[in-house]
Amino acid sequence: MYVTKIRQQRRLAGVLNYADARRRAWKVLPRLLFDYIDGGADDELTMRDNVERFGELRLRPRTGEWVPVPELSTEVLGTALSMPVLTAPCGGMRLVHPDGDLAIARAAARAGVAPVVPSGGGYSLEEVAASAEGPRWFQLYKFSNRAGMEGLVERARDAGYHALVMTIDTNIAGNRERDFRNGFGYDLRINVRNALRLGPQMARRPGWAFRFWRDGMPFELPNTAPFGSDGRAMSLTEMARSGAESFSPTWHDVALVRKVWNGALVVKGVLAGDDARQAVDLGADAVVVSNHGGRQLDGVPAAIDALPEVVAAVGGAAEILLDGGVRRGGDVVKALALGAKAVLLGRPIVWGLAVAGEAGAVHMLELLRAQIIRTMCLMGCPSVTRLGAEWLWERPRG
Ligand SMILES: Cc1cc2nc3c(=O)[nH]c(=O)nc-3n(C[C@H](O)[C@H](O)[C@H](O)COP(=O)(O)O)c2cc1C
Repeated sequence: MYVTKIRQQRRLAGVLNYADARRRAWKVLPRLLFDYIDGGADDELTMRDNVERFGELRLRPRTGEWVPVPELSTEVLGTALSMPVLTAPCGGMRLVHPDGDLAIARAAARAGVAPVVPSGGGYSLEEVAASAEGPRWFQLYKFSNRAGMEGLVERARDAGYHALVMTIDTNIAGNRERDFRNGFGYDLRINVRNALRLGPQMARRPGWAFRFWRDGMPFELPNTAPFGSDGRAMSLTEMARSGAESFSPTWHDVALVRKVWNGALVVKGVLAGDDARQAVDLGADAVVVSNHGGRQLDGVPAAIDALPEVVAAVGGAAEILLDGGVRRGGDVVKALALGAKAVLLGRPIVWGLAVAGEAGAVHMLELLRAQIIRTMCLMGCPSVTRLGAEWLWERPRG
């Protein structure tokens, strides 16, 4: 235990930002997993835009304002957060680290933020709920088996999840060519062919391979038990393959879920103002402006560019969250200045998890907190709740 802690601290020393964590994760993970996380759809234009468009926004500080300790805490849909951040739902995390979703939930609790626990997690939603104190939200995929989906909603309620986050941008799976090239998600099984093909990658990452083997090589996604054949949980492979029939969520499904869930309902994956409005008209309490981290439809705008249209369309009738491309505290500040109440953090948490499990995820959250604090101090802004468009430099027209 003590040795593990020292090892983790050594791995995290020198991880000062997202890029450092990503580089270290590259050294820990086999290539097919690194690419599964790092990659996006088609030419990855949207994925790159998500990050670059944050970089093009400029802050507008008030000099001469001394802010010793900026207030970062906020509340979203009745969930108190120590900073305006949640962890984004990411499927397949038990492949990244044996503690997977449990580690992320615990890290979120330690940092005083909330995890959005994925449908496609390697642990059941009950196991995740039991593993960590603190508020938690559950991400719901549309599954064509309606009774099964309602059962999942019921389980989330019984396990004390506060909000349901319904992902709406998964009509079919995005075209992730890195995954095709690596054979990830389509024929990832333990068989002779894969052993020969993937053996060299695994041999170069013995630490990961050992942990994965000791964890029983878990490919199954326990939350999907009602949807697999014969009541068996689906694997990532099956889940991806069954995409076309089972995942295509429509407004009809949002309305159905609204009927059976009386907690907070969040619709994740809207970009257009009228879609956000539609979600709110159907009873959503919040929307997440998101393009799935550029993993679904390539060529759509960066999340931060889509945000103003959604803010204008929703007009205060619901909370607005954003994910995609948030890498530094300054990005969080920019998203809030443009009208988001909080952001969801995807890949940065996953890299932290890959490098040092729960400690790595905590490290990434605390790095972000330190960066938000520094940005707010330098801007002379006393509280995240005070951020608005006046804290951003107007973009040059043209
Ligand atoms: C490895 C990985 C798996 C993901 N799995 C899911 C998922 O199961 N459900 C979902 O709604 N979004 C999923 N997403 C998308 C994230 O929730 C989030 O929208 C995206 O990662 C945000 O972009 P960022 O990674 O640039 O922060 C996944 C993202 C990654 C990187």
